[in-house]
Amino acid sequence: MCGIVGYIGHREAYPIVLKGLQRLEYRGYDSAGIALFDGSELKMSKTKGKVADLKARLESEISTNGTVGIGHTRWATHGEPNDVNSHPHYSNSGDLVIIHNGIIENYDALKKELKKRGYTFKSDTDTEVLVNLIEDVIKKEGVKLGKAVQIALNQTVGAYAIAVFNKTKPDEIVVARLGSPLAIGVGEDEFFVASDASPFIEFTNNAIYLEDGEMAVVRRHKDVRVRKIKDDSLVDPYIQELQLNLEQIEKGGYEHFMLKEIHEQPSAISDTYRGRMLADKGIIRMAGVDDNMERIANAKRIIIVACGTSWHAGLVAEYIFEDIARIPVEVEYASEFRYRNPVITENDVVIAISQSGETADTMAAIKLAKEKGAFAFGVCNVVGSSISRETHAGAYTHAGPEIGVASTKAFTTQITVLTLMALKLGKFKGTISNSEFQFHLQEMDRIPEKVKEALKSDELIQEIAFKYKDAPNCLYLGRGYNFPVALEGALKLKEISYIHAEGYPAAEMKHGPIALIDEQMPVVVIATKKGHYEKVVSNIQEIKSRKGKIIAVVTKGDEEVRELADYVIEVPETIESLTPLLTTIPLQLLSYHIAVMLGKNVDQPRNLAKSVTVE
Ligand code: F6R
Repeated sequence: MCGIVGYIGHREAYPIVLKGLQRLEYRGYDSAGIALFDGSELKMSKTKGKVADLKARLESEISTNGTVGIGHTRWATHGEPNDVNSHPHYSNSGDLVIIHNGIIENYDALKKELKKRGYTFKSDTDTEVLVNLIEDVIKKEGVKLGKAVQIALNQTVGAYAIAVFNKTKPDEIVVARLGSPLAIGVGEDEFFVASDASPFIEFTNNAIYLEDGEMAVVRRHKDVRVRKIKDDSLVDPYIQELQLNLEQIEKGGYEHFMLKEIHEQPSAISDTYRGRMLADKGIIRMAGVDDNMERIANAKRIIIVACGTSWHAGLVAEYIFEDIARIPVEVEYASEFRYRNPVITENDVVIAISQSGETADTMAAIKLAKEKGAFAFGVCNVVGSSISRETHAGAYTHAGPEIGVASTKAFTTQITVLTLMALKLGKFKGTISNSEFQFHLQEMDRIPEKVKEALKSDELIQEIAFKYKDAPNCLYLGRGYNFPVALEGALKLKEISYIHAEGYPAAEMKHGPIALIDEQMPVVVIATKKGHYEKVVSNIQEIKSRKGKIIAVVTKGDEEVRELADYVIEVPETIESLTPLLTTIPLQLLSYHIAVMLGKNVDQPRNLAKSVTVE
């Protein structure tokens, strides 16, 4: 994971690199560092901790002037998070400095070889090995930095996005990518490099996204030269115009990004279907599906691959696709799928769901599926991301940047896209009647308003959060469409509050988890009127008779569950397949408020990172 950022141009590099690191901190935040070149001296400051810790230290440690700079915010892979393992890393001569996101898998063998040749290492990182390997190539072959980086990278196995600077050739930064994202911002007589476009969005709208296996030499007062790392062939770089704006990546008055993103869901969901769904005309337009309708609609099977929250959206989609489009669906953890020799045929359609579009396991799963002849469809949020480029077709969620590490609006917008897709396929195949299709569209159009209504339970949810914040465990139960919502509710709670939580299909409770229930155990039950309501009510009774504490998410006006539960949170009524878009809202708020009350870092929970670009 890790975030990398760099600048070369006519401005002071420090404020740009520092701000860039703050924006990239979602990618990893166990340590941070910056190197600056002021025309004669290469200066560096780095520390364990967050970018704020770095700022405090750096400004008292080094002068901040210089028009070239690189910075890094880390999510540790090799070597524990400490000052020494933080990036940037110097080469032994002190001429080269590097930042790296990714893993060099054969670093140990390379390190042994370099040690034999007299190199010494201060850190435990694979990155320090790489920078010394580059230095060794320069010494041995007498080549320039760009060539040396290329030769060195051809000796490595693994994944990387790197930026390297050589103080003896101070008018260029060399960058390269394989498996980790890297964007180059092209300004007027200045260049930016970063893991995503957020660090440079206020300076330029023009960006080059390097493809896997490409490197670039970014030259002050000149241009960007892009090449293939393997065979040195020149690539004509495609300069893309960005649609991101600064407002979208700032907190907009909310205390945390997570809260902002929870509250953005009404507009995020309508942004997802706007332009695609014409409810009054009964039309859904999705270019990625329209252009490949026969292929997708005639699929023998849909395999959904994803991780974490996106996997939960995939589980909801399984119900939707089977219900509406009558296509068999399997939902797979991408990490398991890619390593278990799965049976995939040319008649399969593999859908990869990924907010970031960079998750390494999901990316690998898609590559495997393509190799076996399947049609690959991507549902991503980040435009231009690796998965969106690797797939044959796709649909963006258009949720806007999601910065909080805990995924919220990504989940609901993924479900929105997948619902549109299922409806479209169902209509094409005739597995859904015209009137049902029409009704779904109209109801989808009402969802943003209903999400707004669901958000109004915030005060009640704060009260519930206060009551149960000290519980060591929590159980989440749901059935049908709301079983994946129970899993997602549990994931949200555990990842930001560190309270152990489990999600289960409600009926499975009596096959084990019921043993956990006593008067200490809060059980969150999703018991909306549509679906298996009566059966869930029976489960609630079973919990009550064992003295469990019941927090029920119910359809507005429900009185039956109110009689049994300790707390009820109401959501507006909708059709069953759309209930996850509403029932998930109180669960997001509950985990948010519990985590805030416990004093946890909601946007950057421990040990996590937003974009998991390593296995
Ligand atoms: C949980 C969370 C993670 C991600 C997972 C997949 O809140 O954010 O579980 O959902 O790492 O990430 P993407 O969707 O970017 O592939």
